Amino acid sequence: MATVMPSRSRHVDSFQADSQSFRIHEDAPSTEDTEMNESALQDEDEAEQENEPLEEDGQNSDYSDSSEDEPPDDDSHFQQDMVKLQNAFVGFRQKYRLIKRIGEGTFSTVYKAEDLAYDKYDNSWDPDKELDKWTPPPLKNSASQSGTAPSHESQPQRRRKPKYVAIKKIYVTSSPSRILNELELLHDLRGCDSVCPLITAFRSTDQVVAILPYFRHADFRDYFRKMTVPDMAIYLRSLFTALASVHSHNILHRDIKPTNFLYDPETRRGVLVDFGLAEREGYDCRPCVCHDDPVARKAKLRPLISSEKKGAYLREDTRPARRANRAGTRGFRAPEVLFKCTEQTTKIDIWSAGVILLTILSRRFPFFNSADDVEAMIEIATIFGRQRMQAAALLHGCMLETTIPTIGRSGFSFEGIILWSTGRSETNDKLSDDEKLAIQFLSRCMELDPSRRISAEDALKHPFLRMGLDESVDAASNTGDDDEMDMLKA
Ligand SMILES: Nc1ncnc2c1ncn2[C@@H]1O[C@H](COP(=O)(O)OP(=O)(O)OP(=O)(O)O)[C@@H](O)[C@H]1O
Ligand SMILES: [Mg+2]
Repeated sequence: MATVMPSRSRHVDSFQADSQSFRIHEDAPSTEDTEMNESALQDEDEAEQENEPLEEDGQNSDYSDSSEDEPPDDDSHFQQDMVKLQNAFVGFRQKYRLIKRIGEGTFSTVYKAEDLAYDKYDNSWDPDKELDKWTPPPLKNSASQSGTAPSHESQPQRRRKPKYVAIKKIYVTSSPSRILNELELLHDLRGCDSVCPLITAFRSTDQVVAILPYFRHADFRDYFRKMTVPDMAIYLRSLFTALASVHSHNILHRDIKPTNFLYDPETRRGVLVDFGLAEREGYDCRPCVCHDDPVARKAKLRPLISSEKKGAYLREDTRPARRANRAGTRGFRAPEVLFKCTEQTTKIDIWSAGVILLTILSRRFPFFNSADDVEAMIEIATIFGRQRMQAAALLHGCMLETTIPTIGRSGFSFEGIILWSTGRSETNDKLSDDEKLAIQFLSRCMELDPSRRISAEDALKHPFLRMGLDESVDAASNTGDDDEMDMLKA
């Protein structure tokens, strides 16, 4: 077994802040075969291009108290997988007790396990560690009362709640550089608010597992329809807190969607997971005209506009093929990703977060249901209208032509879409002021032009995401001496 971390350390803070990379510690190799997951034997590039949403329920809606014992996963295929996983790593059984499979994604299978060796390590990554400390109740006949030394049997056993972890078994078909990238980015993001920290990682030959704190969460589909507007504000505040941290490290998550933001509606806490597609801003970038100043851009694009024959295809298209990172999940890709912008920024995550808000406000999941990128463009163009979509394409040096009758010239307003999708009309069941504020925020997240789209940092200052916060601050500072306050203000 090899720890893909400083050896034997599970303490995130103990990582070298300036470490260039992970130190790989090799233990004696396991005699067991490394597991191959057949379902993952797909072309990795293909998987990268199309990280499709889960068809199967990959969520864990477990609301049981974390101290309760879990029923084991009784699916025999996964039982076998769990046994193989335990055997692949020397000493695994002493460290973790696998409980059940909690998620199966494009790149990994995730298991819930009990962390048996929790007490042997420094667990500063654990926000609950102080809360979970067990304090013995006062004893009726304590030693101090009787004046005799306590016998060993009368000592209460020090017990604490079992600690759970999520074990992410990354498919062996993932490229080593991709795996290292995910672990390195998580390492850089340690200590970030609302980002699920990496505890440690192990490697045995080509099998890598990442160990994360288990985060209790519910299935998005079970709660998003019941969310009030203040609930939405709290959910998105948590998501944008994570995005602000990630973006301040110049990292793009690239795969913002409900299954990658684990949210517990009971505690109203959420964490961002899955940095499998994440990348550093500027990585593998080539200049795109969208970053030019508008005057220079217009000058560059003028010849393109005049040379394009409207509604016609070139017989022999000699233009070089455009290549850009399109990784992400369909329905959540920003327009610049669809237009193959070669200089994508952290704003692609803001668009995807906007799609989540649109889903909640419209009570429709998935909101966008395209089979491919062209259909995705059609869906977005239907909302924004032909003219704005053409301008958005031109921003990245693309010409968009369409004769599809459902794509109108000016599209629809978000207000209209939300009224329609929730079966209301402007006359009898209007939008509330809170909803209007949410829609105003939505339109800032779903700006077609990424440079105009709100940043995560500014989003946290938007009145919608501050909903409830400012009032509670006001209430806390309202001590009853309103008259004096008014006098001071005057
Ligand atoms: N720390 C965690 N605590 C609880 N559950 C988790 C945790 N991490 C992941 N999961 C569960 O496992 C699922 C898959 O995890 P993750 O998104 O990291 O893997 P993935 O293979 O990249 O998935 P996908 O391709 O679907 O995006 C999550 O949607 C979630 O249900
Ligand atoms: Mg995922």
